[in-house]
Amino acid sequence: MTVSRFITFEGIDGAGKSTHIESLKARLAAQGPVLSTREPGGTPLAEQLREMVLHSGMGPLTELLLVFAARRDHLDKVIEPALAAGTTVLCDRFTDATFAYQGGGRGMDLAQLATLEQWVQQGRQPDLTLWFDLPAEIAAQRRAAARAADRFEQLDLEFFERVRAGYQARANAAPQRIARIDASRPVVEVAAQIVAVMEQRGW
Ligand code: TMP
Repeated sequence: MTVSRFITFEGIDGAGKSTHIESLKARLAAQGPVLSTREPGGTPLAEQLREMVLHSGMGPLTELLLVFAARRDHLDKVIEPALAAGTTVLCDRFTDATFAYQGGGRGMDLAQLATLEQWVQQGRQPDLTLWFDLPAEIAAQRRAAARAADRFEQLDLEFFERVRAGYQARANAAPQRIARIDASRPVVEVAAQIVAVMEQRGW
């Protein structure tokens, strides 16, 4: 029987997740069907919401509700059907990002986030989360070299240190699920850390 897994990738902007998602996808594809997707996004509706969240001015509560609305559509139309069909789902960001960005970064109430999490996800949680951790300053240097900034990426170092602390708090609360990857290391070493996490689980 195929075992489907739900694996998410997290970290502050500039942590370098993308390359590693692709290599992990290639590795897991040898074991069975794999789908990669992202949040906010992953469905036509959620991609429209993503555009708004990343580029339109709005208050923090509107932003929070839009990311959860996008998540609900993504779960309904893509994630849950794929997992039910035995497909492993790799998702670039999920609810830990909401706790880190809207909770840590924007200072939204964590108890309200937990209520929304429960309401929207109905108990669905990733089986494994790879958290690409690095200091905000190094991430900012990498971003500056790589691309034009969206609404989040324009925010200051203090915002990203709060986001990082938000991820740390989530990792402390769910140490079995969230594996910290030292993303300040060179790409080959980061890849080796990921392989070690997978091997520890026998994946
Ligand atoms: P990406 O550039 O890694 O695809 O992420 C898009 C941005 O959206 C990133 O800056 C983090 C932010 N974001 C939130 O603020 N809350 C969320 O729940 C998610 C999934 C992403």
